[in-house]
Amino acid sequence: MSASRLRPLIAGNWKMNGSRAQTEALVQDLKGRLASQPGLAADLLVCPPAPYVAQAAALTAGSALAVGGQDCHAKQSGAHTGDVSAAMLADAGGRYVIVGHSERRADHGEGSELVAAKAKAAHEAGLIAIVCVGETEAERDRGATLDVISSQLEGSVPADAEAANLVIAYEPVWAIGTGRTPTPEDVATVHAHIRGLLKAWFKDGPEMRILYGGSVKGSNAGSLMHVPEVNGALVGGASLKAEEFWAIALAAAGA
Ligand code: PGA
Repeated sequence: MSASRLRPLIAGNWKMNGSRAQTEALVQDLKGRLASQPGLAADLLVCPPAPYVAQAAALTAGSALAVGGQDCHAKQSGAHTGDVSAAMLADAGGRYVIVGHSERRADHGEGSELVAAKAKAAHEAGLIAIVCVGETEAERDRGATLDVISSQLEGSVPADAEAANLVIAYEPVWAIGTGRTPTPEDVATVHAHIRGLLKAWFKDGPEMRILYGGSVKGSNAGSLMHVPEVNGALVGGASLKAEEFWAIALAAAGA
């Protein structure tokens, strides 16, 4: 299978948004859309805040819509007040967890070594880790994008990861929540670079999915989702609206 034909994953990162009522409404809406298009050539995932993971997982039982967490601790249990473990996310019905999101790296001082430990914890709990990497605007302006991506990836991806339990998300920090996106050519350059590293490191590197994230919405998904080596999207703001999220899924699936 060629890497560009990998089944796309459209992942919704709700961030710190939502309520029980909104979780119910959004999940039911997406479930309905999925049920009406069972042949959709894309995987759909929603990552609600931790308190709503179990609720979302219960609502999606029997549907193709997957649920995940937005972060996990590197340990599976213990004296870590306020933290959530990968084992708990799995127990709650989660199948994925996002680790190393730039908001975690920036707001909580998380470095790549910790991100790798979290990804490892996710794997131990049977979850698929979505490892995020991305350059800041200053790094981009000084031409350091590919170097930053290389070192973040090298530090954040566990050495024994497999295509079955690892997804990479390339999210330029300056594109997150700003309405700005790189050009398709720039996305292609970074994704080709990431693919090259994954191929060099892993036997099944060609099958690992690489998502693009940062201001993806229905209106730009068509151009971003068809860039070579883009295997789906990690969607923030637009994942809170079923119609927008669905439009992105349709674009990625080529439906
Ligand atoms: P955005 O967020 O789609 O709102 O830009 C993306 C993300 O942070 O995952």
